[in-house]
Amino acid sequence: MRQFPAFFNLTGQRVVVVGSGDEAVRKVRLLVTAGAVPVILVRSTVILKRLTDTERRRVIVQPVWRLDEALKTARLAIVAEDNPGAIARIRAAGVPLNVVDRPELCDFTVPSIVDRGEVVVAIGTDGNAPVLAKAIRAKIEALLPRRIGELAALAGRLRGVVKAALPDFADRRRFWERALTGRAAELAYAGDLAGAEAEMRAGLAGPGGEGVVHIVGAGPGDPELLTLKALRLIQEADIVYHDRLVSSLILDLIRRDAERVPVGKAKGHHSVSQDEIHELLIASAREGKRVVRLKGGDPFVFGRGGEEMDAVEAAGIAAFIVPGISSALGCAASAGIPLTHRDHAQSLTLVTGHAKEGGVPDLDWTALAKRGQTVAVYMGVGTAAMIADRLIEAGRAPETPVAVIENGTLDNEVTVTGLLENLPHLIEDHGIRGPALLIIGEVAGLRSRSAAALLPNEVVAA
Ligand SMILES: C[S@@+](CC[C@H](N)C(=O)[O-])C[C@H]1O[C@@H](n2cnc3c(N)ncnc32)[C@H](O)[C@@H]1O
Repeated sequence: MRQFPAFFNLTGQRVVVVGSGDEAVRKVRLLVTAGAVPVILVRSTVILKRLTDTERRRVIVQPVWRLDEALKTARLAIVAEDNPGAIARIRAAGVPLNVVDRPELCDFTVPSIVDRGEVVVAIGTDGNAPVLAKAIRAKIEALLPRRIGELAALAGRLRGVVKAALPDFADRRRFWERALTGRAAELAYAGDLAGAEAEMRAGLAGPGGEGVVHIVGAGPGDPELLTLKALRLIQEADIVYHDRLVSSLILDLIRRDAERVPVGKAKGHHSVSQDEIHELLIASAREGKRVVRLKGGDPFVFGRGGEEMDAVEAAGIAAFIVPGISSALGCAASAGIPLTHRDHAQSLTLVTGHAKEGGVPDLDWTALAKRGQTVAVYMGVGTAAMIADRLIEAGRAPETPVAVIENGTLDNEVTVTGLLENLPHLIEDHGIRGPALLIIGEVAGLRSRSAAALLPNEVVAA
């Protein structure tokens, strides 16, 4: 580190800005946001046209020859044009100086910032690589919850109350650690500030010991298809109970010191029963842990997320749901198959191919056999022959296009396309074991050429 990072309180303070180009406008904007009063020294007042009404009311514009006078009351100065004379005069006045894009002339540099109200993250590169700082900023922007500033503001409002209730510093620190990462924080992030405040006030009476359970969709496998919220939560969790379907690339993103517990179900082999999963989630939450239940695809699409939510809430613990990209959407996109199309499919139905008691479920085959629609079948590899028979018996054309996508969105994705009458052979001949999704309907014949070209394991069978 070659520079000392610090945040200046500039509320109501004057800051000299020399220049009227894009950089000057950017700095004026930032200063106004920080509550400062920019004194803009210009040769012409054209800069005023580029400011908003509110900004115009907050700035003072003076001709550049009044620089010395302006420097008498300035806390900082920024030069945003090629003006060696102004730089020399600012130096002579002893006012800390920033010269845009000239780090060697700067007393201070202006970092790239992530601004969430009370929470500000500053990224500096000693003024050497502002573009790199901006790239880092974009990553941090993506990770910080949108309402984190509101949580910080709430903490600020309650500071006095907390100090009075918990005079001991260590007690206060423990309280804030719980409050700012636990249930109160989640309520604030969800926009329920009153609930968050009530939770914090209740926490002052002593730890309730209750964590939260997040039931999180991990998407179909490609880690880049995680939502930002899912990524944040798996990086904050104390314990993650995950399905077999969650890819190892995603499990690698879990915090290193968090516990990972596989509770996966392989086809026909339930390693941990559903009731046991509920008990585990509840027990961990009662220990005050941040619990993530990480599920393949979306938790509410053939994922038993609803049962887990009910069980957790029945135990008096808050459950939050984070959606994921369901495999039908992920697989279709990856294989370049539009699930609906104005000319070919006016509706999309997601069905399971596997009944609770085994075999195919009792679906409305006549409705599913109608033309002009897409049927996406989950868990249908083992029952594909029965599914094809039922649909053809109910009137769907045997030559309806189908696609089978195995390990969709992962590096070992296999896509096989053919006709409905050949569906069982497609699966058998190509050794498809699953997880795989079946797409039945005219759209399965509309592959995107770029997706087909990208896939190493592309097979067109009929
Ligand atoms: C128990 S369901 C879970 C579905 C999940 N909740 C979702 O929204 O995708 C499991 C089925 O999802 C489908 N599936 C999940 N991930 C898949 C993938 N990467 N490629 C193809 N199919 C997948 C398969 O049909 C698999 O049998």
